[in-house]
Amino acid sequence: MEKRFRLFNAYVWGIAGLGIFLLATNIPKFQDGRHVAEVLFLAILVACGEAAAVPFPRGKGTASMATPLIFTVIVLHGPAVGMWVAALATLRKRDLSLEVPLNVVLFNRGMLTVCAYVFSKIYFLIYGGFGSLEFPRGLFAFILAATGFTLLNAIIIGQGLAIQMKVPFVSIWRRNIVWMLPNMFALFPMGALMVLVVQQVGPLVLVLFYLPLIVTRVSLQKYIDLWETYSEIAAALSIAIDARDSYTHGHSVRVSEYSGKVAKKLGLNDEDVELLKYVGLLHDVGKVGLSDGILKKQGPFTYAEYEEMKNHAEIGADIIKVMKFLGKGEQWIRHHHERWDGSGFPGGLAGEEIPLGARIIACADAFDAMTTDRPYKDKMSYEEARKELIRCSETQFDPKVVKAMIKIIDQEMLGK
Ligand SMILES: [Fe+2]
Ligand SMILES: [Fe+2]
Repeated sequence: MEKRFRLFNAYVWGIAGLGIFLLATNIPKFQDGRHVAEVLFLAILVACGEAAAVPFPRGKGTASMATPLIFTVIVLHGPAVGMWVAALATLRKRDLSLEVPLNVVLFNRGMLTVCAYVFSKIYFLIYGGFGSLEFPRGLFAFILAATGFTLLNAIIIGQGLAIQMKVPFVSIWRRNIVWMLPNMFALFPMGALMVLVVQQVGPLVLVLFYLPLIVTRVSLQKYIDLWETYSEIAAALSIAIDARDSYTHGHSVRVSEYSGKVAKKLGLNDEDVELLKYVGLLHDVGKVGLSDGILKKQGPFTYAEYEEMKNHAEIGADIIKVMKFLGKGEQWIRHHHERWDGSGFPGGLAGEEIPLGARIIACADAFDAMTTDRPYKDKMSYEEARKELIRCSETQFDPKVVKAMIKIIDQEMLGK
């Protein structure tokens, strides 16, 4: 722990130091007041671009106009101005109010300075100078330099996360970075276009580039708000379900958590992991259609009562069908009581015929039922429930789902 902390600290200060060294050895020189004013104007635009960065859905990074604008500044005004603008104009309010720790603020400045330096080196190597962008060599140089900047930026962040979280760089790269790259690359043509426009018309016209950004920001924010509303509705519904059956208090939330973790362990994509958390929360929503006599029954069901209880899976699926955003979640709820050997309900599906999401919920559901007190039985210990899952693997549960669940139980509950 201590060693990792020291290594992380050395990494953060190393990047920050490299940035400070580059800034100190590249002091910008201005020709006249007009030159200063133009750079200042561009720096303000970079700062606005950073402040109006568009968040990607579900809080993973942002797409900012600041980056292509930094490319524009380097191409038009050279590396020294570019590095200083990259380091200073990207400071946000929370950096200045020291809401973000000082070493992180300096690390980010260092990283952007180093990336801007690499951009300018690549551009110069291919194009041979600064101040203009002529086709086709200039565009080629611009795209390669921008690629260098973006990849280096991603590598520096990824490596930092890998050290901090003590996970291999490759897994950080695959999980957190690869999917973001197309969004970043998509901004390159915008950067090249901005250089051309400034060359032809002057820097003031850059303000126009911010209009589509504002429209995108507003609509994306609406989309994010909508997802938050969905979450709140799903949470409220799950509380309503659990409230009807006091013995299962918190059951839906735990099934949602276990399902999400198992899905992640099994390597499902982020979208399915997220969806499983929602569907886990709502898996027993069909219980609203059951009578109190059944829900609150203490002791074993009669045949007829058991048949009625079985209906909750299909009632739940029919309710979910109306919530279009839950998509295939409807099938997961319909089949969350199927068994791997085909003896479950309502469809009697077996093995891989059962949708994977339903197999995950079934395992999470059973584990929570075993480890909480119910009217007709005392709860099992985690160790006992773990044994029971293994015993029922390949009859009741999908063996690979059980394996993933066991890993989570061992790591998080038994501390093995
Ligand atoms: Fe159920
Ligand atoms: Fe359940």
